[in-house]
Amino acid sequence: MQVRQLKLVNFRNYKNLEVTFSPRYNLIYGNNGMGKTNLIEAIFVLALTKSFRGSLDKVLIMNDEKSLTIEGVISSLINTNYQITISNEGKKVKINDNNVKKLSDYISRITVILFSSLDLRMIKDTPSVRRKNLNIDISSMDNCYLKLLSNYNKLLKQRNIYLKSMNINSNTDNDYLEVVTDKLIDIGLEINKYRTDFINKINENISNIYKKITCEKGLCIEYISSFTNNTKEELKNNFKKVFQRDIILGKTQIGVHHDDLNFKLNGFNLRDYGSEGQQKNAIISYKLAEIEFFKEKNNDEPILILDDLFSELDNEKINNLLNILDENIQTFITTTNIDIVDEKIKEQSKKIVVENGKIKEEL
Ligand SMILES: Nc1ncnc2c1ncn2[C@@H]1O[C@H](COP(=O)(O)OP(=O)(O)OP(=O)(O)O)[C@@H](O)[C@H]1O
Ligand SMILES: [Mg+2]
Repeated sequence: MQVRQLKLVNFRNYKNLEVTFSPRYNLIYGNNGMGKTNLIEAIFVLALTKSFRGSLDKVLIMNDEKSLTIEGVISSLINTNYQITISNEGKKVKINDNNVKKLSDYISRITVILFSSLDLRMIKDTPSVRRKNLNIDISSMDNCYLKLLSNYNKLLKQRNIYLKSMNINSNTDNDYLEVVTDKLIDIGLEINKYRTDFINKINENISNIYKKITCEKGLCIEYISSFTNNTKEELKNNFKKVFQRDIILGKTQIGVHHDDLNFKLNGFNLRDYGSEGQQKNAIISYKLAEIEFFKEKNNDEPILILDDLFSELDNEKINNLLNILDENIQTFITTTNIDIVDEKIKEQSKKIVVENGKIKEEL
């Protein structure tokens, strides 16, 4: 799948922009603060209805304006027009000019795999940030997963509220808690399966990709979950064991909301042992491995966005990396320094110069 055209109105520092992209490489360059990341962020927002930068929606609207619109033509088997409008009143999405009422029916139709330096959070930050990233990655490919997550979170909230009420009022109904726990375990097991399958698939390719970039062997991802390799009955027992403490804490101590991930290089956790470069290469290998997962699952190619990937990587790694990019995948590369980009890629790229929210296109 590819973004063929993009129109922006009042998106960040873009007042009015219309741009067409190459189905292969798009090289977006310009000085710091000009709007390179904003441009690729717009593609991400069009796909997932929110920013990868964690910004509030209102920050995406151009200062002193009331609403923004992003419109894009995505070509897959056929061309489809997607549109999102964000204002004080919330978000509205359309596909081919028809309103789509639920965001969950809109998300995951456009699949974007994006690398930015913020992704280092996946290694450095807290488990909750890693889970959030993992959730975005899986749900951007499959909206059934998104619905499961939303159901799980609703049940978890209900269970925690009920636990708190049990702490205050001992006259409560254990049956209700059992029903909620039962459902939480069922949905948790489904989420666990999604995550296990996803990580297994990533692990089939990640080590090879990492080796091609860095010449080092032995990268894998470890998925840690209290639900892995447990039957429903075993989990019910485990919930019972911690039930009294759940009530005291007013919180559910077991569940996929505590899952975590580790990036391991030959058994060593990159969070503790890895250099910045190793961490960055591990993340980019993860992203490229995701492409394979998506291709098999959807019989189509995702859109690949590499935001400022080249800062901090040495030239050899950059070239190794560019050489393994699949030339059939539409790829966006942003950089402040176009000289760093391989001549072969430059020749095949549409070059877009960004200057203060305006662009100049060169073929
Ligand atoms: N809501 C907004 N309204 C107007 N301008 C905005 C808004 N949000 C961000 N900007 C402007 O966008 C610019 C930053 O754009 P962007 O992050 O795309 O830069 P960049 O070209 O990627 O730079 P770098 O090379 O440093 O990563 C800043 O000048 C900022 O003031
Ligand atoms: Mg940037």
